Amino acid sequence: MQETIIQAKDLKKSYFTGKTEVPVINTLNLSLYKGDFTVIMGSSGSGKSTLLYLLSGLENPSGGEIWLEDKPVHTMDEKLITLLRREYIGFVFQDFNLVPNLTFLENILIPAYLVKNDRKALKEKAIALMKKVEILELADRLPSEVSGGQQQRCSMARAVINNPRVVMADEPTGNLNSNSSNAVLNILTDLNEEGQTIVMVTHDIKSACRANRIIFLKDGQIEDDLRFERKESIDDKEDKLLKWLAEKDW
Ligand SMILES: Nc1ncnc2c1ncn2[C@@H]1O[C@H](COP(=O)(O)OP(=O)(O)OP(=O)(O)O)[C@@H](O)[C@H]1O
Ligand SMILES: [Mg+2]
Repeated sequence: MQETIIQAKDLKKSYFTGKTEVPVINTLNLSLYKGDFTVIMGSSGSGKSTLLYLLSGLENPSGGEIWLEDKPVHTMDEKLITLLRREYIGFVFQDFNLVPNLTFLENILIPAYLVKNDRKALKEKAIALMKKVEILELADRLPSEVSGGQQQRCSMARAVINNPRVVMADEPTGNLNSNSSNAVLNILTDLNEEGQTIVMVTHDIKSACRANRIIFLKDGQIEDDLRFERKESIDDKEDKLLKWLAEKDW
């Protein structure tokens, strides 16, 4: 039995255009498990980003429940959710979201300083992470002075500095060329092999094959759920995924 790390129960999210309610997530039920690398797929506008934002506490649900381990996020106020999110979730955005007037090192340290006080230890940790994602020589650069791939590696270091229970990534390679994409995916894969739970939204078949579980979102619900064996080759995974997606008119 795998340990549940995030659970959504009858989750709902609607947006309003004028007075018309547009449901995006509609009575969705989902459990995410510790140690999994889960990928969320679905057509454009199917609500993938919305779901990820809800699961991370970045957006409030219109109804239903979200549990982060034993913590009922849906009952908490903004302030409590923010505190919880800082410790529990590391988020990687498609457009990096680094603070433009802070250096790489400072960007990585922001979430750490918000949670802990031991500045010396945190700085050492940030440096170790920069080494790991191969941006140590860029520590004093501003985001505008480096490539997109390097910015995304910085944002991954920022995402994991607080040892979050879950790393969430919304199309983290969407703005990158194939070399940079591979570097980013390799880091996520390595983190997962070290035990980090990961949830990633992607359109890309090859990226999705890094996962061991794929969920397919349609009409605001989880339409299907696919699992790969760890030992399956990338080619076998790709074949399996393509067939599975073809059945869904993806
Ligand atoms: N703040 C908002 N206000 C109104 N409608 C919104 C808002 N955010 C998202 N939507 C709508 O909700 C639906 C789902 O959006 P979402 O961004 O979650 O889709 P997605 O699956 O991530 O799409 P993509 O693959 O293009 O990134 C879309 O129809 C979108 O227009
Ligand atoms: Mg999206």
